[in-house]
Amino acid sequence: MERKYPHLSSPITIGRTTFRNRMFSAPMGGTDIANDGCIGPKSTAFYELRARGGAAAVTVSELMVHPATDGSHAYHLDESILNSLACATYTADAIRRHGAIPSLELSHSGMYAGTYMTDKTKQKSMHQWGPSDTVRPDGVQVKALTKEMIDEIVASYGHVAGLAKRAGFEMLMIHGGHGWLINQFLSPMFNHRTDEYGGNLENRCRFAIEVLKSVRDEVGPFFPIEFRMSGEELVPEGYTLEDGVEIAKMIEPYVDIIHVSAGTYQRTFGRTHPSMFTPHGVNVYMAAEIKKHVKTPVATIGGLNDPAQLEEIIASGKADIVYMGRALLADNELPRKVVENRDDEIVRCLRCFTCMAERAATSTRRCTVNPLIGRESEGSEVSKAAEKKKVLVAGAGPGGLYAAYTAARRGHEVILCEKESEPGGILKSEQALPFKHEMYELAGTYALLAQKAGVEFRYNTVVTPEYVEKEAPYALIIATGSRPLVPPIPGLDGENVVIVNNYYKEKDKVTDDVVVFGGGLAGCECAIHLGMEGKKVHLVEMRDRLAPDANVRHRPLLLAEIEKYATVHTEYRGLEVTKEGVLCEDKNGQKVLVPGTTVICALGQRPTTDTVESLMDTAPYVRVIGDASRVSTITNAVYWGYHAALDI
Ligand SMILES: Cc1cc2nc3c(=O)[nH]c(=O)nc-3n(C[C@H](O)[C@H](O)[C@H](O)COP(=O)(O)O)c2cc1C
Repeated sequence: MERKYPHLSSPITIGRTTFRNRMFSAPMGGTDIANDGCIGPKSTAFYELRARGGAAAVTVSELMVHPATDGSHAYHLDESILNSLACATYTADAIRRHGAIPSLELSHSGMYAGTYMTDKTKQKSMHQWGPSDTVRPDGVQVKALTKEMIDEIVASYGHVAGLAKRAGFEMLMIHGGHGWLINQFLSPMFNHRTDEYGGNLENRCRFAIEVLKSVRDEVGPFFPIEFRMSGEELVPEGYTLEDGVEIAKMIEPYVDIIHVSAGTYQRTFGRTHPSMFTPHGVNVYMAAEIKKHVKTPVATIGGLNDPAQLEEIIASGKADIVYMGRALLADNELPRKVVENRDDEIVRCLRCFTCMAERAATSTRRCTVNPLIGRESEGSEVSKAAEKKKVLVAGAGPGGLYAAYTAARRGHEVILCEKESEPGGILKSEQALPFKHEMYELAGTYALLAQKAGVEFRYNTVVTPEYVEKEAPYALIIATGSRPLVPPIPGLDGENVVIVNNYYKEKDKVTDDVVVFGGGLAGCECAIHLGMEGKKVHLVEMRDRLAPDANVRHRPLLLAEIEKYATVHTEYRGLEVTKEGVLCEDKNGQKVLVPGTTVICALGQRPTTDTVESLMDTAPYVRVIGDASRVSTITNAVYWGYHAALDI
């Protein structure tokens, strides 16, 4: 068969293991972790999904090798714990039976252990272990590991590696990057030892090499061992790419794949997990540089989701393997779609960080664009309905589109009505913001999937009670979304005001001096964009903080961009919009004019309650989803749409 992406789709053999293509699934923490560290069934289903989706290897994340010195809540593998080996075996098998190679990441958080503890107050009463004595920025004491402790940890890597092999894992990833223990030893930023583990690079590599030898002793010569490292640490105190090359050369004799990621979790989160404000593949240059200096296969990672770019990386020899994390949450079938020349069906990751934020907030996992994530064990098959029904969906925003797509896959007759001339709903406004273009494109992808599944689209069609009566569907899904909130503030109806949702249509009206009125997520993102365009931007917010509606991972990155591009006025209440700007009252009751000749109104959304109420009684099965139900996130709209269709 002629493959559209031949390099990406081609197998690679490492030692005696053949991987079916070049697309590997990066370690992503499962969330179903029993109190004794066993891998829970929901986590197993989480990893299995990516194996079914065609990834060549699926990495089960962060198994802590030495719980005694590593307090993070993560998987453990310990034969003295009932079920520990069994759970790991079920997980390895769940991956292997779909043709993917099961890999397990072995890790130790070192001085950053306990970072994820839900009860942060406990951090005050503990200390952690790292290469050197120090105090973490959050006040936690760190003590230097003794030689005896180092030996014990090294031995535990080997011991756990042996157990992993016994459980059926066919590859191991040793986590030497992102600021965790091995990285801490490699880094001059963390490692201030004066013994044989500190000082020059050779000494700083000693711990990593001892770990790798210990693992090799247990798993034997033909078992692929992969070393995950940061190509460079990306901060002045950290190691450089030049050092990264030397590290790669030093560990090369002990490994089968050198996996080049970037930076540290603690200092460069938005590069280690490249954010929407960075280009796709922003870290590929590190792998490409290291590859020039080693013979061992090299893997790259970071914000990759475009098959054409992935193909180019492999074809041009920048790397031999591409890893993806979030892209395979967004579309667990991405590798399969690539290999089967169905790349137009790929649902792209938005890099919105819902996945990581949900873990921090609720210890579960969700993905904005893929409602299977976090619910994998509830079944990922959309099964045919026992009886074909007529389904009418009102509104082609993300929730409506996903509902229609799902209902059609279940064999129903589905009509999707949209009052405007194209799909997308609120997503349409994202087209003007380059860093959110993928969010805009999401509607096109969902629409294509829905169309292929047999949905009939009717644009420029408003669903009224009469319309429903005429169509007489069994099910009506109301996904009519929300409208912008425009409070009765004098001047807000003026010629110089652009509603943020309409910015994409009225871009040309916007002058070089802008006040963005409203510092929620939409206002902040628009302010950043306008700043990037070179405009002078003032951002006015009534509350004392910006974007409280942004998730905990995206928000700090957003605020860092705001700092670059806008002048912020929090606790400013807008009283009146004039031709010169927004007249505000500050927290001391003083009147201040925030200057700008264009005002962007970004004061929030409210549901289309009137429409919803008029339609509630028009069909046997009625479900209200997304913003029409409660102004909320795209994630909720998609999850609710999916389940509304499953319930028919
Ligand atoms: C939800 C989530 C969980 C992650 N958990 C881990 C982990 O347990 N171990 C690890 O080494 N990296 C972890 N990472 C980092 C990824 O492996 C990857 O390096 C990073 O997300 C960048 O790749 P991407 O842009 O393709 O997502 C995680 C990333 C995400 C998004």
